[in-house]
Amino acid sequence: MKIGVPKEIKDNEYRVALTPGSVEMLVREGAEVLVQCGAGEGSGFADQEYRSSGAILLPEAAAVWEGSAMIMKVKEPQPVEYAYLRKDMILFTYLHLAAEPELTKVLLEAGTTAIAYETVQLDSGVLPLLMPMSEVAGRMSIQVIAHYLEKENGGRGKLLGGVPGVRPADVVILGGGIVGSNAAKMALGMGAHVTIIDTNADRLRYLDEVLHGNLTTLGSNFQNIADSVKHADGVVGSVLIPGAKAPKLVSREMVASMKPGSVIVDVAIDQGGCVETARPTKHSDPVYRLHEVIHYCVTNMPGAVPRTSTYALNNVTLPYAMKIAKSDLLEVIKRDTSLFRGVNTLTGHLTSRPVGEAHSLEYVPLQKLFKS
Ligand SMILES: NC(=O)c1ccc[n+]([C@@H]2O[C@H](COP(=O)([O-])OP(=O)(O)OC[C@H]3O[C@@H](n4cnc5c(N)ncnc54)[C@H](O)[C@@H]3O)[C@@H](O)[C@H]2O)c1
Repeated sequence: MKIGVPKEIKDNEYRVALTPGSVEMLVREGAEVLVQCGAGEGSGFADQEYRSSGAILLPEAAAVWEGSAMIMKVKEPQPVEYAYLRKDMILFTYLHLAAEPELTKVLLEAGTTAIAYETVQLDSGVLPLLMPMSEVAGRMSIQVIAHYLEKENGGRGKLLGGVPGVRPADVVILGGGIVGSNAAKMALGMGAHVTIIDTNADRLRYLDEVLHGNLTTLGSNFQNIADSVKHADGVVGSVLIPGAKAPKLVSREMVASMKPGSVIVDVAIDQGGCVETARPTKHSDPVYRLHEVIHYCVTNMPGAVPRTSTYALNNVTLPYAMKIAKSDLLEVIKRDTSLFRGVNTLTGHLTSRPVGEAHSLEYVPLQKLFKS
């Protein structure tokens, strides 16, 4: 199979779909990999590394798209790329089609088979291709808090871990899932006092069991959140109710009760945010001050560390890419239930129910297409 990797062109996107190491694995399995010149630049991979791994380097995006049976990307195709979409093509990338009515239409008209990273789902319900980005964002959130707590950066001038004889900072984490537990690990490692608040008592039990250090776990209710946030130096917003907007757990009044120069990182901002005063920001201008509290609400936090994020993404996408490259896609989908769930469009049919509901489009279950 010919697999194409075009350079990402979305604003501020520096990740790349395949590392030179992943290319080598695919080439060993008999695939031909076409990589656009400069595709790996943002993640620190030179064209020569791809050549040495067996890739064919092409200067123009068009040649990569036109010459490939499967295109692997990171972000959804941008409008200038729509013309490249074809019927005899598999597109394997993050798509978020529920938020992309125009792209959904274009994929259906082109008849492209689109597999969305974010909807590939294990039988356990885990979303394996989203998880690494939550790990990155969770770990980063504590670096961000540490940075903005410094006086020079507008913060309270407090060191996360304190020093012997001086209290450490208080970090409050709302939601102890993947983002939250990774944030907790980092904060505890740096010596902060950490409070994790979650609705799921089993999850709190588990975190209490596996995390060691200065940790408090609390059930999620108004009182616990208000009290904890008021005394926090840093707050991480990391709740998720799958498929729904994030609940606004931290009200404007709670933010106003916080100490001047404390820091909120609302990681859940991509689902609307769980802090009432949070609004989306970009890496180029990541923070704003409101009620004397620093707000960091970047919607694509992993974009700040593209090299780590690219490796983390490749760790989870490569096994699927190898499966698809080795045999007929329909056979692979029939056997692999997680990839089956990842298929959003197939031969002009919309196979994702949530996307159909989002855009009032007809949805056809994939099983039905297999039978016909
Ligand atoms: N901004 C970014 O760059 C970025 C990157 C990765 C993930 N995210 C987002 O971070 C959020 C968290 O992702 P995740 O992978 O950790 O999800 P997850 O499902 O692993 O964890 C969510 C946790 O929130 C808890 N929760 C739900 N309702 C709650 C409530 N009312 N009070 C307290 N806890 C509650 C759940 O029990 C769960 O433990 C998602 O919105 C995700 O899209 C953002």
